[in-house]
Order: sequence, then structure tokens, then C-alpha cells
Amino acid sequence: MSIRLSVVILGAAVLLIGMAGSAQATPDSGACGACHGGTANKNRPGAMDLTGSISPLAVPGRLDGGTASPLPMYSVQPGGTVTFSFNVKDGRNKYSLGLFDLEAGGVKNNASNLLSFTADPDWILRTDPDTTLPYYSLDIKTWGGTATAYDFTMTVGAGTPLDVYALQAVAAGRGPGTTSGTVQWGDFEPFYLNVSPVPEPSALVGLVGLGAAGLVWWRRRRRQNR
Ligand code: HEC
Repeated sequence: MSIRLSVVILGAAVLLIGMAGSAQATPDSGACGACHGGTANKNRPGAMDLTGSISPLAVPGRLDGGTASPLPMYSVQPGGTVTFSFNVKDGRNKYSLGLFDLEAGGVKNNASNLLSFTADPDWILRTDPDTTLPYYSLDIKTWGGTATAYDFTMTVGAGTPLDVYALQAVAAGRGPGTTSGTVQWGDFEPFYLNVSPVPEPSALVGLVGLGAAGLVWWRRRRRQNR
């Protein structure tokens, strides 16, 4: 075999291995929606739920132009710790999770407000190869048939500006069969983190006072009704 032919064969082999490497697209490939969303057979809302201490919050006139409809909200005080809980209800047959937009600005008070935080060490910090933006994800999981919750627990820096931050959780995988499938599906769940102040002690006293007044009223009413 001529040297030139060997070089060509070697070159082709390297190219093929390289292509195989990039085809092995997994939770480290960046914004999951680019490949795991966009069409009806790929979007699988309900594959994952946000759980934990959440309540709905609507932010009309969002600074980033985002939705005015209510989204699930987690709350935390500056310096406090918050746990987002992502409950995967149907991860057929391989899945993983991503958490995006932690670097984006506030959407209610000031777009230049930024979250400072210490991330959950169980999650892997990655960089989107296209946008170079950071995000967090887990490694690949095999669907075991029962709902499984994954927590992202983070401590918010004491100096974090009070604002509402819009984040996005994604469950994405390959299915839809229980053991196989070639569709890259995704479930995209936007939510809020509301960094809100420590309740004023006076407000607390007020609440307790209100409760006591209510009790007195209730007792009096019971007495009258007897
Ligand atoms: C550039 C396109 C692309 C992006 C971006 C991408 N994926 Fe994928 N993903 C694929 C393709 C193609 C497959 C199927 C081929 C394979 O298994 O590598 C796949 C497969 C998977 C699998 C199954 C892997 C296996 O072993 O069967 C999981 C889990 C997954 N992706 C999760 C994610 C998550 C989570 C994100 C976002 C954090 C993401 N992907 C981003 C293209 C992408």
C-alpha cells in the first residue's frame, strides 16, 4: 500500500470517528430544545413536573418580553437556600435534565440584576457550544418506570438584588418506547425564582396580632352562639 493511500485511509477513519463523536449528542450538547423540541412528536409536556414549595406568579410587562401568564415560582431570601425539585414522570427510555438561564438578568425590577449563587454540586456545569452560555445538567438516566425527582439545591448570595429571575428546566431524552426509540423528545418548563426580602419583624408581629384578634373574635362568636 502506498504511503499516500494509507494517509487517505487514516484520514477517513479519523473523520468517521470524529463524526461518530459529534453524533453522540447528549446532555452536554447545549440548549436541549435545538434538537429535542420544536415538533409535535418531540414535545412531551407532562414528562416532568416542578414540585416542592411553589406557587404561581404572574409578571406582567416582563423586562425580557416573556410571558405574562402565571408560572410556578420558588422563593428565597438573599443568603438563603432554595431547592428546585424536578419530578420525571415519564422518561422513556433514556433521559436527562437541564437547568438554563441562571445567568440571565431580572425580569421584574432591572434586567441588569444578576443572581449570585452556589450551585448544587451534584449537577454538572456545562457550556452551550453555540451560545457559550452556561447551564447545568445531569448524566444520562435509564427510565425505570417510576417517577423520580431530582433536586437542584442552591444557596443564593447575600448580595443578590431583589428581583424575579426567569429560569428554565428541561427534561429531554430518547424514546418513546420503554426500551428503545429514536425520537429526541423534550419537556420545557419555565419557572421563576423570586428573590424576596426577609419578612420585616413588625410585619410578623402584625400577623401574630391579627391571629390573636381573630381567636378572640372566634371565641366571642362561639360564646354568643351557644
Ligand atoms: C445538537 C443536538 C442536541 C442537543 C443540543 C441535545 N441533544 Fe440530546 N440527543 C441528540 C441526539 C441526536 C440524540 C440521539 C442520538 C444519541 O443517542 O446520541 C440524543 C440523545 C439524548 C439522550 C439519550 C442518550 C442515549 O444514550 O440514548 C438524552 C438523555 C439526551 N439526548 C438528553 C439531552 C439533554 C438533557 C439536552 C440538553 C441539556 C440535550 N440532550 C441536548 C441531540 C441533541
